[in-house]
Amino acid sequence: MKTLLVGYRAADLFEKGKHGRRSTAAWLDGDVTCHTLDIYDRHAIEKTHHARAICSPHLPEGPWDLVKFRTGPKLMSGELALSLLQEIHLLKPARFEMDFVGRERDRNDLLAKVKDDPDRVRDFSATWKASVPGVAPIELVSFPGCFCHRRQDEGGLALAEVASREAGAIQTPDSRPLSVLDMGCGCGLVGFLIAASLGSRPLSLVMVDSHSRAVEAARLNSERLGIPAEVVLADNGTPARMDGTFDVFVGNPPYYSDYRIADVFLETAKRALRPGGVCYTVCKNAAGLEPVQKRYFPDVEIVKRRGYAVLKSVKEVS
Ligand SMILES: C[S@@+](CC[C@H](N)C(=O)[O-])C[C@H]1O[C@@H](n2cnc3c(N)ncnc32)[C@H](O)[C@@H]1O
Repeated sequence: MKTLLVGYRAADLFEKGKHGRRSTAAWLDGDVTCHTLDIYDRHAIEKTHHARAICSPHLPEGPWDLVKFRTGPKLMSGELALSLLQEIHLLKPARFEMDFVGRERDRNDLLAKVKDDPDRVRDFSATWKASVPGVAPIELVSFPGCFCHRRQDEGGLALAEVASREAGAIQTPDSRPLSVLDMGCGCGLVGFLIAASLGSRPLSLVMVDSHSRAVEAARLNSERLGIPAEVVLADNGTPARMDGTFDVFVGNPPYYSDYRIADVFLETAKRALRPGGVCYTVCKNAAGLEPVQKRYFPDVEIVKRRGYAVLKSVKEVS
């Protein structure tokens, strides 16, 4: 039986055996494929359970005998749940099971939204505008699951404003194009706003995100805006070939997991920047992030913007 699991993370694929010991769930044996939207989850499932996992912005074509969908208000947004339900419906699996985490009422509310007209195909993408002062607004497209969907993030905007104000003045060795790395790019808000602020100045833009729908949106936005960008799907930073090549690093990392992801961002910044290159990160409160940034860059300047703190460091020239 060909089974597709949707919305499961490595931690969900354990079962308790005798004496309360955790082991990989027996139902993962057989012809099971785990779909993930984030490459981190794919790697975690492969490493922890040695199971087959794929990462893609959309569900893989069947035929599937069974699709199991794990969802709930604490696991994903209602819009992401609806967009995945729609994709599952279009796959026409022989059997469908929903592993709902939450109240019965929320489960019924979710299903009620698709019950009346299950064949209606909805477009869940959103188009919205963002700008930094003195520069014409740019139009961005986003999808459910991708950060930020439908609206700009104030932290990202604060980061874009500070970095764009300064990036134009950064000199590059041998007058080559300014090279900018936007890590955790989401749909590309920060990188594309910096690009727009540079006007006709030559730019080399690289964007990285671990979420496949963010990468899909950033690639689409690059095309729509006519701003070339290499957009990479990765959870461990840029490839080694790019080490020491960037003039500017920007990152608006997620702050769950005890700054562990912020640490991955800053390790990448240190590695990817050339000596003299500038690292900008952003967070609500500098007190948590500053010690992490100081592990990689001894000097951190804090710039307040929009109720956020932008942390700026320059890579030492040794
Ligand atoms: C707070 S959002 C910022 C998005 C965008 N830069 C903005 O400011 O609107 C953080 C982004 O980091 C991404 N992310 C999380 N862990 C990551 C990792 N290990 N490597 C690359 N990106 C990651 C998330 O998918 C998300 O898109």
